[in-house]
Amino acid sequence: MKAADSVPVQRSSQAATAYTRRHSARLSLPNWTVGTSSEVAYFRYMDFNNLKEIIEHRRSSKPALMNGKKIDDHTILQLLALADWAPTHGHTEPWRFIVYANQAVQQFCHEHAGLYQAYTPSARFETAKFEKLWHNGDLCSHVIVTYMKRGHNPKVTAEEEICAVAASIEHILLGASALQIAALWSTGGLTHHAAMKTFFGLEDHDHLVGMLYLGYTDQPPKTGHRMMPLPEKIDWRG
Ligand SMILES: Cc1cc2nc3c(=O)[nH]c(=O)nc-3n(C[C@H](O)[C@H](O)[C@H](O)COP(=O)(O)O)c2cc1C
Repeated sequence: MKAADSVPVQRSSQAATAYTRRHSARLSLPNWTVGTSSEVAYFRYMDFNNLKEIIEHRRSSKPALMNGKKIDDHTILQLLALADWAPTHGHTEPWRFIVYANQAVQQFCHEHAGLYQAYTPSARFETAKFEKLWHNGDLCSHVIVTYMKRGHNPKVTAEEEICAVAASIEHILLGASALQIAALWSTGGLTHHAAMKTFFGLEDHDHLVGMLYLGYTDQPPKTGHRMMPLPEKIDWRG
């Protein structure tokens, strides 16, 4: 990122105007963000407290609790544009997305359920799980299958590449949260099964990181909770 592209620290209206002009073109932001008093609102959006609120209010939503309303494809592309700004060691940009929309959503979910049936030993097969996978697409709008495309830079480990893809997924989830789009990052079903890699045409060293179910919901926002207090997770030295 060039220094000129960084967010201006001083929030003078001049700096805000320059910033929003530069970025609205790049992010295809609507015109209201440019050159009007509403650019101040856009600037607040960039504020730490706003980001904190979006992060703290992001919640997972089950596909079964979505309401069938469709997300605009353009919005999905904007979420993917956020994902594309994830940190990446060695600029490998290992995130790849297979986007299912419209009738392809249900079709994919049915295929996923079929794979679960085909590759699960009968002793472990659960009808309820099959049914859940089959119906996952009934009320959601898009499914984004996200995987790590292993590159050829020997200095970057596969673990780092998966971390970068996980960060890109978080960008999608936070963008969705900001737009009140319901989302679930799922690794359920056959996500980690070799058959799934074959199904998507992935190579051996590629890695499926998650399936994102996106839609809208009429459910009231869930209260988040953390099991372990933050201080217990911090070893502060110095
Ligand atoms: C890598 C990963 C995989 C997940 N897989 C599933 C899943 O298969 N099914 C599911 O219901 N939730 C899944 N989740 C969502 C978590 O269960 C959810 O984040 C957790 O319950 C915390 O809730 P919150 O996201 O609302 O804070 C997954 C989350 C992560 C990070």
